[in-house]
Order: sequence, then C-alpha cells, then structure tokens
Amino acid sequence: MTTVIKGGTVVTADRQWKADVAIEGETIAAIGEDLAGDSYIDAEGAYVIPGGIDPHTHLEMPFMGTTAAESFESGTFAAAAGGTTMLVDFCLPGADGSIRNAIHDWHRKSAPQICTDIGYHMAITGWNESIFDEMKDAVEMGVNSFKHFMAYKGALMVEDDEMFASFSRCRELGALPMVHAENGDLVAALQEKYFAAGMTGPEGHAHSRPPELEGEAANRAITIADAAGTPLYIVHVSCEQAHEAIRRARQKGMRVYGEPLIQFLTLDETEYFHPDWDHAARRVMSPPFRDKAHQASLWAGLQAGSLQVVATDHCAFTTAQKRRGRDDFRLIPNGSNGLEERLAVLWTEGVETGRLTPEEFVAVTSTNIARILNIYPRKGAIAVGADADIVVWDPKISRTIRAASHHSVLDYNVFEGVEVTAQARFTLSRGEVVWAWGQNSRPQPGRGRFVSRPPFPSAAQALSRWKALSAPRAIRRDPLNIPAGI
Ligand code: URP
Ligand code: ZN
Ligand code: ZN
Ligand code: ZN
Repeated sequence: MTTVIKGGTVVTADRQWKADVAIEGETIAAIGEDLAGDSYIDAEGAYVIPGGIDPHTHLEMPFMGTTAAESFESGTFAAAAGGTTMLVDFCLPGADGSIRNAIHDWHRKSAPQICTDIGYHMAITGWNESIFDEMKDAVEMGVNSFKHFMAYKGALMVEDDEMFASFSRCRELGALPMVHAENGDLVAALQEKYFAAGMTGPEGHAHSRPPELEGEAANRAITIADAAGTPLYIVHVSCEQAHEAIRRARQKGMRVYGEPLIQFLTLDETEYFHPDWDHAARRVMSPPFRDKAHQASLWAGLQAGSLQVVATDHCAFTTAQKRRGRDDFRLIPNGSNGLEERLAVLWTEGVETGRLTPEEFVAVTSTNIARILNIYPRKGAIAVGADADIVVWDPKISRTIRAASHHSVLDYNVFEGVEVTAQARFTLSRGEVVWAWGQNSRPQPGRGRFVSRPPFPSAAQALSRWKALSAPRAIRRDPLNIPAGI
C-alpha cells in the first residue's frame, strides 16, 4: 500500500520545491514529481513539512502540590491538531528519587494514552551515588538529556557543585545537560520581599523574577558546562540577558543551544497587570512573560541562529488549580499552554510578517531539535527512509484561537482571541492520518510510541579531545637550568 501526498510544496530546513511524497508503511518511500499510489492525500496549495517536534512539555506532571491537568492523551491529540507529531516530556523522579523508577512510571502513564510519538528528558533534582549510577540506566533506556533546575528553591533546585558533577557525568555518557536558568536564591529572596510588602497577586510573580536573574543563571550554567567540557541546552529562554549569554558563548565556540517559547515571542508581562486575577494567574509561569522589548531579541536570535528551537513548556493548570495561589502568588502553579498553538502562531507572527522564511520555520519547529536530540533524520526530516511524520500545512486557513474549540483539557487558552492564518490540513504520524481539518478527527490513544534517543558522544568527545590537547601542562626543564635551593 502506497499513500501519496499529492500536489504540495515540500519545505525542509534547507529548501522548498514542488514534489509529491510517497509513504509505505510508516516511512517515506519516495519524493518526486507525479508519483502514483494506492491512495492520495491532497496537498494542493499547501506546504508539506516535517511534523512539529515540541521538545518541552509537562503532561500530568506532579508540581507545586498539584498535577498538571493535560493528560498524555489530550496533550498528544491537541499537539496533532496543531501540526506537532512528537513531544519530549520532562520526567521527574518520585519520592524514592529513582531515575529508573521514574522512567517506568512515565511509561506506565503515557503508553496507553499517547496518540503520537514521545520522548523524555530526565530531571536531575539532587546529587548522590545512585543518581550517578542511574543516569547510565536512563541513557540505556533511551533518555539522552538531563534537565537541571536552577530555580524552585527548596523543591527541584540544584546547586552549582551538583550541576558540575551531573554535567561531567553527562559528558561521560554522551548525554545533553539542560538547564532552567534562573537564580533560585534571589528569586526566593525577592518573592519574600514583595510578598512582605503586600504584593500578593500575580504581578508579584513577574517582579520577583527579573530578567537579570535569568541572565546570571544562564552565564553560570554556561561556565559550568565549559568547565565540565559538555554542550549545554538552555530551556525556555525568555529575555535578552539569557540570549546575550548564549550568543557570547557561541561566539567563543561553545556548543550552547537556546530555546525561546512561542509565548515569550508573542505575549508580554502586561498580562500580569490585568485587573482580572484569573486572567493574570493563568499566565503565571517561570520564567515569566517579559517586557515587550525582549521579543525583538528572541526573534533576532531565531533569524541569526543564536537561538535554535521554539518550544512551548506546555504545563497546563486549570483555573481552579491556579486559584490555589489566590492569597499568595508564590502558590500559583507555574505553567502555561501552547502545544496546539505553537506552529500556527509562529507561522502567523514569524513567516507572515517576513521575520522567518518557511525553511527557518521548519528548522526551529522540528529539524534543529531533532539534530540536537539525536533523532535526525528519523524525525524532523522529509527524506526517504524518515518516519512519515508529516504535516500538510495550509497557509490559507484563518481562524481565531478559542478555548471553546481547542483540544486541550484547559478551561482557558493564553492565546485566546489571537487570529492565526495557517493550520494543519492533515497531520500524519508514521504514515497514519491522525488529524484532518474539518473532519471530526478523534484521538487514537495508545498508537503513539516512545522514541528511544541514543547517546551522542561526538560533541562531548570532540570537546574532551580539544580540552585534553589544550589543557595546562607542566613545563619540562633541564634540571641543570633550575637554580639550586638555599
Ligand atoms: O512555569 C513553568 N515553566 N512550569 C513548568 C516547569 C518548568 O520550570 O519548566
Ligand atoms: Zn519500562
Ligand atoms: Zn523550567
Ligand atoms: Zn518546563
């Protein structure tokens, strides 16, 4: 059985050209003109792009005394409706602290529910011998990236020495360290200060997490990664200060990657000053939305290549959950939505405005992260042999984002009322149509698969070799030329 996606313009991270795409089973079998098949998918007037990969989600994650409301089923289906065919979710250790058990737990929750493919990053939330040992197990279980929280003091936060130890372990294993960059000690102190001064509402969240604290932490993480001799991925980059740190590191030849969120590119901190408490609290996340001036920096980073990936950090808490912090902004569960909206908003605000080319759009929504996470070209590519995770992307469907019509379980949407001008006409996951615009598609829980990501020693090895070659050395001197002691 051959299915042919007919009449579209294929867009990859390199180029675009008119071509049909033939699929056999789960993979792409041919790309070319006038391909014949047993069935056809209409791509006339549309782009044919690799399915989006969202590398930053928190589905059903226990956090801040509650559990994120988006399930693996609703999350992966909402993703498919928005043109995203793979997401990478953050796996947190449970009470026993075991990495292996946490991964099994995530499999147990996700496997029966997922409609499209997923992977995991593992969170490192402390440091001891069993974490050191179990990081190897994680890599063997297909998890090749480890996130470190520099914020959430008293909960998930790790110290510099712990990060150095963990980053060094990542280097040995060929795994990628990631950081949530915010100075957690100072955030805690500023939270205390503003709360004590009577600022109890969501604006206190924004004021207690200024961009300088993110820039400082980004610089510190970069310094630690350099000392450990490993690349580094900085999640949810929200501001010029963090971007500047990444830019500077890259100019020095360091392999540092930065991930702005679609929220940070398009929404700003005035949301926290909204008179309606619910409106403001629904947008509480860390780092917070920033002054609008930061958006130009983030867009420029995507254009120049100093920032590589647009993600969502989708971590959905309902209005009822947000109200846990009604009297104290420090108790509002942190997180916002975007899994379904990411591609459409980025296309509208990026490609339609001329800030990004369609090729750059593909690079930052799938190809770059597939490379960074070592799953390219199986994912993130339109190429013969690649998984047929493909989106027929229609740049002529306009719609208004509404909670009333989205596929998330949330009772609101931070993009409510935003007009978008493009939409997935069809979303295919490994050759199967999982979403068709206007055709009442239903979730198919359990058909998605866990994507094992092998370690990638090359960058760490190259860095280690260079470090060894350029390491400080003792000078060998002729003993006769060394002055005698007294
Ligand atoms: O506010 C956020 N970002 N919630 C999710 C946890 C994290 O820090 O990524
Ligand atoms: Zn298992
Ligand atoms: Zn984070
Ligand atoms: Zn996150």
